[in-house]
Amino acid sequence: MKKILIRNGNILTASENFIGDILIEGEKIKAIGSSLPETDCEVIDASGLTLMPGGVDPHTHFDLPMGKTVSSDDHYSGHKAAAFGGTTSVMDFVSFDRPTLEESITLWQEKAYPKAAVDFSFHMNLSKWNEEIKKELSLLVKWGMPSIKVFTSYNGRLRLQDGEIFSAMQQAKELGLLTLLHAENGDVIEILTREALDRGHLSPEWHALTRPAWGAVESTLRGIALAAQSGAALYIVHMNAAGEVDQLQYGRENGLPIIGETCPQYLFFTIDHLRRNDGAKWVCSPPIRSVEDNQRLWEGLAQGIIQTIATDHCPFFYDGTKPILYEGKEIAIPGKELGKGDFTQIPNGLPGVGDRLPILWNYGVRSGKISPNQFVALTSTNPAKVFGLYPQKGALIPGADADIVIWDMERRVDYGVQYAQHRTDYNLYEGWELVGYPIKVFLRGKIIVDDGKWFGKAGDGKFIRRLAGVNVI
Ligand code: URP
Ligand code: ZN
Ligand code: ZN
Repeated sequence: MKKILIRNGNILTASENFIGDILIEGEKIKAIGSSLPETDCEVIDASGLTLMPGGVDPHTHFDLPMGKTVSSDDHYSGHKAAAFGGTTSVMDFVSFDRPTLEESITLWQEKAYPKAAVDFSFHMNLSKWNEEIKKELSLLVKWGMPSIKVFTSYNGRLRLQDGEIFSAMQQAKELGLLTLLHAENGDVIEILTREALDRGHLSPEWHALTRPAWGAVESTLRGIALAAQSGAALYIVHMNAAGEVDQLQYGRENGLPIIGETCPQYLFFTIDHLRRNDGAKWVCSPPIRSVEDNQRLWEGLAQGIIQTIATDHCPFFYDGTKPILYEGKEIAIPGKELGKGDFTQIPNGLPGVGDRLPILWNYGVRSGKISPNQFVALTSTNPAKVFGLYPQKGALIPGADADIVIWDMERRVDYGVQYAQHRTDYNLYEGWELVGYPIKVFLRGKIIVDDGKWFGKAGDGKFIRRLAGVNVI
């Protein structure tokens, strides 16, 4: 079996920081220590460099059909972009687009398996509910994807009623599934959107104005209350509003098994970005909000109220009529231009899977908002723990998968669309200056990114089966 010794790196984990060596044997970490013997192995000198576990992004949407288009990264291009940004495991949402769970998951497997370039798992969107579906839910345990997402918005499409969510949570509790919640008020959004259109309010900022923060706050509390009454654990996805952090804190202080996730877009951007001429670039659901919301979310992360940072990566072209070159081929996919003159037609979602780690390192850790250990915990170890991937993923310990990222903390990068590897024509962090960037990325012992070069390929990524049973951290 091939052995690689990474020597003298600054090893950074969720709880430690020390100089040491990591020995990789085949796909696994064999040993961690100092002055490990160099016999029969390739040696990489990591002096002055930092070693971290590969990032785990628990919330992505690859190849997701949306209205008249589809998210522009598929399970190859999105995985490749993730890898360049230091993320080696991603978790994607299966749309419940076929009559049964089994058919819907099979379709997603057919899309993902041949293209996967990093390791991956799935969550199931539970956007319908009846006795048949209830019976079929145990399939998620059998197929190693024990998590469901429920929605309190997207009326007539993805939303379940409160009683249905409660009943699904009871079943989730029974089977050991983790329930993920998209918290917005679908009824209020429906009324405000109709009113905005009637009054001719058509610009992107109305996307946020028709989806108020109070709807997110009350449905977060509603979800927490439904979880408490059903005995189920709850994971609140893409937290975006200050009041949601308060609700999460309240629930956790009351001993409830609740986990919170936020995403970089809710930490760095506000409704003012939607007011720009190119505001459509920032249209996502839930919407980006205010500086006060940004600040409370940072506080929630620093104080341990929120446990994970994902991306909700769901990219679209800004101008999908103009092709970009991707791996030497021209590609154009309809995007945000579909909503020119009508915010309700703008495909919802943003690129981010490759941006997450370098942006957060620079504008979270280097700016003093979170510590280096918190950075690893929030972006790798905690999501791995919550979703049953730990210690195979999210850990630098003997026996773990050798998913290792080597960072050069001196590397200066003018970030933007030319640097990021997403298959789209824009980047939200255009022109942001970075000091510190991943330079080598190992996926189960194989180097897939080396100093800007790509050595991964479609099919390298494996579906990671997860066990039922909820790990609350
Ligand atoms: O705008 C977004 N986030 N699109 C993806 C769907 C979702 O609700 O996460
Ligand atoms: Zn959502
Ligand atoms: Zn999402």
